[in-house]
Amino acid sequence: MTPVWFMRQAGRYMPEYRKLRETHSLLDLCKNPELAREVTLQPLKLGVDAAILFADILLPLDPMGASFEFARGEGPVIHEPIATRSQIDKLRVIDPDESLGYVMSAIKLLKRELDVPLIGFAGGPFTLASYLIEGGKSANFAKTKKLMFGAPDAWRVLMEKLSEVVRLYLRAQVAAGADAVQMFDSWVGDLAPADYVEHVQPHVRRVLCDVETTGVPVIHFGTGTAMLLREMRDAGGTVLGVDFCTPLDWAWERVGHDRAVQGNMDPCALLTTREVAVKHAQRVLDAAGGRPGHIFNLGHGILPETPVDHVRAVVDHVHEVTAR
Ligand code: CP3
Repeated sequence: MTPVWFMRQAGRYMPEYRKLRETHSLLDLCKNPELAREVTLQPLKLGVDAAILFADILLPLDPMGASFEFARGEGPVIHEPIATRSQIDKLRVIDPDESLGYVMSAIKLLKRELDVPLIGFAGGPFTLASYLIEGGKSANFAKTKKLMFGAPDAWRVLMEKLSEVVRLYLRAQVAAGADAVQMFDSWVGDLAPADYVEHVQPHVRRVLCDVETTGVPVIHFGTGTAMLLREMRDAGGTVLGVDFCTPLDWAWERVGHDRAVQGNMDPCALLTTREVAVKHAQRVLDAAGGRPGHIFNLGHGILPETPVDHVRAVVDHVHEVTAR
């Protein structure tokens, strides 16, 4: 049976989640292990084959020295975006067991009761750098690339600090009990391959090669990455996450059939009807062609407007047609 889970499977499309958010902020849910446990468990009633820890990729930034908040309707806001070398020099390489102990506590709580694997995660160093420098979401990553192209030494120091934190953080999650980890380098697809290879790949490689030695599967994910799949594969990951614009069969050929792939239904196809959702799910299954090593997922996270029933229909469909 092809395993299925969804990026952002816990979140605003679920009524139980919205209910908790009436009384708790997003950061409350992340920082209280009992609440993080509860939210992580919510989507399991849909029949998914894995739980993903409820947390956020930005959590390490605050103890590193870059405080932020989630502004209503706007997404994350970094209070003092990084613009200078001296700000980069001041960022701390944290001990995740100390600074993010609440994440490890949530993992330990979940491991006592889960009967499906638990996926831990962290942001990729480029994606984290982009939030630090842009101060939030960005359309073109102009400030990030200006630093990367114009001040490569400062960029390298920033990437070394971020990738060391990501490495330690993923290792700590595995030590606490995570059965697999995913690195969300969500925005790396905005780079040309040559720039990825020069400015990002060495840092990602150091993280992924090290985390792979723990023995757990490591999922390497980005969006808009059709042109980068080989370079991402070369940087590491036992599983490559594929975005929804890239045909899964084409992506798998580029990655190589000796690696597993994850993906890649368009999250928007869940918004319409059960029939349309199932049709899109089948297209992904057809592209995977029944090869072993396919993890069914979306090509990016579930959208808040998604009807829960459509998600359930896709889970059931994937299980039914891939049952052996
Ligand atoms: O997948 C899961 O169920 C685990 C939970 C999870 C969250 N964030 C909780 C969250 C995961 C895996 C993330 C990763 C994350 N966070 C990424 C990488 C994945 C991606 O989507 O590319 C990024 C870029 C972030 C940073 C972030 N956090 C942004 C840009 C936003 C605002 C966007 C929005 O949809 O409003 C968040 C907020 C956030 N993190 C929510 C959730 C469930 C929104 C819900 C809320 O406000 O309650």
